[in-house]
Amino acid sequence: HDERTFVMAKPDAVQRGLIGEIVSRLEGKGLTMVGGKFMQIDEELAHEHYAEHEGKPFFEGLVEFITSGPVFAMVWEGADATRQVRRLMGETDAQEAAPGTIRGDLGNDLGHNLIHGSDHEDEGANEREIELFFDDSELVDWEHDT
Ligand code: CMP
Repeated sequence: HDERTFVMAKPDAVQRGLIGEIVSRLEGKGLTMVGGKFMQIDEELAHEHYAEHEGKPFFEGLVEFITSGPVFAMVWEGADATRQVRRLMGETDAQEAAPGTIRGDLGNDLGHNLIHGSDHEDEGANEREIELFFDDSELVDWEHDT
């Protein structure tokens, strides 16, 4: 069934000019972009988005990184979209991520791992993250012709 999932090109991806590459890979897989926004995340949004990691040793660094420069936030739609995106991204630790994945091909660092996708094992993460970043009016209902 079709579902919507939240995806974000992180500041390292933006800095390295990889927005297009990331979008291309998701488009190439047949997923549909229904929302996209180039933006700067502030402290408050960073804390909300990463609430589940609050208290962990890497939390402050994570907030600092995600607020360090602009990101490209997106919503993608498709059959099993959340899991599809996770597979395209590769493992969290880019050094361990398999070649062929976005992180495996383009990343080399655990913290600076280029892309965020909603956790498919965390039920409701999709909706929660989409709502946190996008207003309903910013999402477009459309379908590919073929
Ligand atoms: P992501 O899964 O998008 O969201 C949480 C992020 O925390 C994760 O990507 C990593 O970039 C980062 N992260 C997770 N574990 C660690 C860790 N042990 N040290 C540093 N950063 C981490």
